[in-house]
Amino acid sequence: MSVLERLKTLLGIAEERPLYLRALKATDIPAVLIIERKMYSYPWSEEIFRDCLKVGYSNWAFIKDGEFIGYAILSVAVGEAHILNICLDSSYKGQGLGQKFLDEILIVAKEKQVSCVFLEVRPSNIAAVNLYKKTGFKKIGQRKNYYPAPDGKEDAIVFSLDIALDSD
Ligand SMILES: CC(C)(COP(=O)(O)OP(=O)(O)OC[C@H]1O[C@@H](n2cnc3c(N)ncnc32)[C@H](O)[C@@H]1OP(=O)(O)O)[C@@H](O)C(=O)NCCC(=O)NCCS
Repeated sequence: MSVLERLKTLLGIAEERPLYLRALKATDIPAVLIIERKMYSYPWSEEIFRDCLKVGYSNWAFIKDGEFIGYAILSVAVGEAHILNICLDSSYKGQGLGQKFLDEILIVAKEKQVSCVFLEVRPSNIAAVNLYKKTGFKKIGQRKNYYPAPDGKEDAIVFSLDIALDSD
């Protein structure tokens, strides 16, 4: 992607392109909640998303052919980013779009001088675990009983990816 395209993306004015990221806005929250509640058994509340916008996290909307199809929330500080949520509407799963979305998010992180990206994921979320492994994330730990689950609690795998030395 050219510098101009990247700038347009960051400014949210790249509507002529079929697939792009733009900053997430408060007006997106109803669409976010529809996807969030469809995709997760334990979805974030509206208040959490409003707080993410309020505290100035790095919040992204993923747009395909003008449609809002997903979102990502990152906290970024002193060279580290934490992907707190990345989610794609089920209608668009399995088409390589989650990978593209994650790749774009990693480019954004790099532009923010991030050298290491962290995230947590349920071991039972096979699609996400495979996506992260395929992208080069390495398991660095496991948090016991981190997530709510139907039969009590589920651990979280902690993944990290060093993006400081990538060439692109
Ligand atoms: C996780 C998620 C982003 C993946 O998006 P996606 O568009 O379906 O994934 P892609 O088509 O880009 O696939 C990329 C890779 O992910 C893995 N993957 C995706 N779907 C998979 C599935 N059903 N089973 C196993 N692996 C899968 C594969 O490694 C795949 O690479 P491959 O096609 O070369 O095998 C998407 O399923 C999603 O938003 N899920 C709900 C929210 C969520 O769980 N977020 C992560 C929280 S930590």
